[in-house]
Amino acid sequence: MTLIVGMAGKGGTGKTTLAGMTARYLVETGRKPVLAVDADANANLADVLGMEYEHTLSDAREEMKTSAGDVSITKDVLIEMRTQEAIVEGDDIDLVVMGKPEGAGCYCAANAVLGAVLERTLKNYPYQVIDNEAGMEHISRLTSRYMDVFYVVSDASRRGLIAALRIWQLVEELKITVPNKYLILNRVRGEVSKDVMDIIEKEKMNLAGVIPDDMAIYDADQQAKPTSLLTASDSPAVAAAREIFKKTLG
Ligand SMILES: Nc1ncnc2c1ncn2[C@@H]1O[C@H](COP(=O)(O)OP(=O)(O)OP(=O)(O)O)[C@@H](O)[C@H]1O
Ligand SMILES: [Mg+2]
Repeated sequence: MTLIVGMAGKGGTGKTTLAGMTARYLVETGRKPVLAVDADANANLADVLGMEYEHTLSDAREEMKTSAGDVSITKDVLIEMRTQEAIVEGDDIDLVVMGKPEGAGCYCAANAVLGAVLERTLKNYPYQVIDNEAGMEHISRLTSRYMDVFYVVSDASRRGLIAALRIWQLVEELKITVPNKYLILNRVRGEVSKDVMDIIEKEKMNLAGVIPDDMAIYDADQQAKPTSLLTASDSPAVAAAREIFKKTLG
């Protein structure tokens, strides 16, 4: 049994922060090892987790590309090696960074090999958390077409929610398989407006919970401390997030 959790949402809503917290939550509830996948070209999941990385999967792909069309076994071995190199091993959480999107040129062969290697590698991890890039256009080329749990993260503004709704609907249109799709409102100040709650209800967006805007997160971020290390007693946001995880991940 694997459990794959994915994040989506508009820029700056808290996807990466929540991806880090999700990974920690899984570990704390005995579900490990977790593979944290940074699928954002502007990678920063490592900071949130307090990890460092040197290589990305796109480095591996670039190297492969130069040998497009070459199907010799040595290239397979090479990419396998590079993929392994790109996985940073932590105590309970390993991290892999996808890196920059493809440049010009033909990546078909490289992508095919990388895809196969990645699939094999991912199978080793019973728990995976995927931090996706912001925005709509990226949803259509999500790294994973299947996620057990998909969190759409939004702020509590009306405009923010409309953006979240578009993502919500796009996921359905694209037939990405997500048995459990939830809306999370993050960085909420005060009450969520009736207007916003009405949209959520009307559109049947499955609201998993509301996370307050929290100085503790802000401070940790300012001091370059990994926010995923904050505990529920340090931070009301972590406390709220954990309630959401409990409800949606068990
Ligand atoms: N509940 C919260 N309270 C206060 N600050 C928060 C909260 N959640 C996230 N933040 C802060 O908001 C900023 C954006 O968060 P984050 O990077 O997780 O968003 P993102 O959706 O991944 O952004 P991007 O689209 O750029 O990848 C960060 O500085 C983060 O520390
Ligand atoms: Mg992010």
